[in-house]
Amino acid sequence: MINIDQHLEREKEKINRALEQRLSHLVPSAVTDAMRYSLEAGGKRLRPILTLAAARTLGSEDDSVIDVACALEFIHTYSLIHDDLPAMDDSEIRRGKPTCHCVYGDALAILAGDGLLTLAFETLANYGSRDGCESRAIRIIAEISKSAGVNGMIGGQALDLGAEGRELSLTEIEQISLLKTGALLKASVVCGGIAANATQPQLKALACYASCLGNAFQIIDDLLDYESTTEELGKPAGADQVRLKANYPALLGPEKARARAEALYSESLAALDNLDCPAADLKEIAKILVYRKK
Ligand code: IPE
Ligand code: IPE
Ligand code: MG
Ligand code: MG
Ligand code: MG
Repeated sequence: MINIDQHLEREKEKINRALEQRLSHLVPSAVTDAMRYSLEAGGKRLRPILTLAAARTLGSEDDSVIDVACALEFIHTYSLIHDDLPAMDDSEIRRGKPTCHCVYGDALAILAGDGLLTLAFETLANYGSRDGCESRAIRIIAEISKSAGVNGMIGGQALDLGAEGRELSLTEIEQISLLKTGALLKASVVCGGIAANATQPQLKALACYASCLGNAFQIIDDLLDYESTTEELGKPAGADQVRLKANYPALLGPEKARARAEALYSESLAALDNLDCPAADLKEIAKILVYRKK
């Protein structure tokens, strides 16, 4: 029997191979070099891992789900490239390497992000062109475009930038976190469910699990920024304080922030009880995500 770490390592390898395949038709250029650079720098691949886990939990071993998983990682990686730009968080290290704009310049980094975002929707179109996937693809595209757009991730990123230097209430921080990070994470889980033909109550349970987890994920991201090191994280530690970013430990203190993440973790597990099927992998992933060190 393999343990969860070995299982996730295999999932990661599978996802990395699938990402590579979905880049192979692109005409080589400086932009595609920049796209590959950021994708191949690594990353935990948590969003595609969640998509595959949600689909498998509901009994779908369908290979086509990997298209949906890859699309979510393309969007996530694009969001990181843009998040690091000088006009945004102005960061020089990502995934343990110099950021995309530090290597390729701002203009190509912007275009690499645009290229990854567009490739995500091309990949979703490929998913929809498979037999029997059309109507699910339309629902998945609706879910992903809403969660990555101005009512989701982009809206959250704009609020995050607008809040720099201001003291926020817990409600405001929570709203930013649910949008900038929670929305795409929730879509990652829900789309795995849609691809596996989940019922409405099951989709509701998955959405609730993922909302709690998305919020917990950002609390831990803030805590790691507060407590960890650049070496461990592969991105600059202490950056939130330098840029006077709205963040949980600055407002609540690290202990209360962690307690809040743990309460959300428990809530996310409880939501899975409404799935009406065993969800061991989703539970293990939630644990890994909340107790991660990077
Ligand atoms: C970092 O996401 C950005 C946030 C949404 C908080 P991850 O911690 O998942 O980054 P990678 O993909 O592992 O690099
Ligand atoms: C980033 O949040 C969220 C998105 C990229 C959408 P952060 O700015 O906190 O992420 P890190 O800490 O740079 O990874
Ligand atoms: Mg940011
Ligand atoms: Mg950032
Ligand atoms: Mg952060």
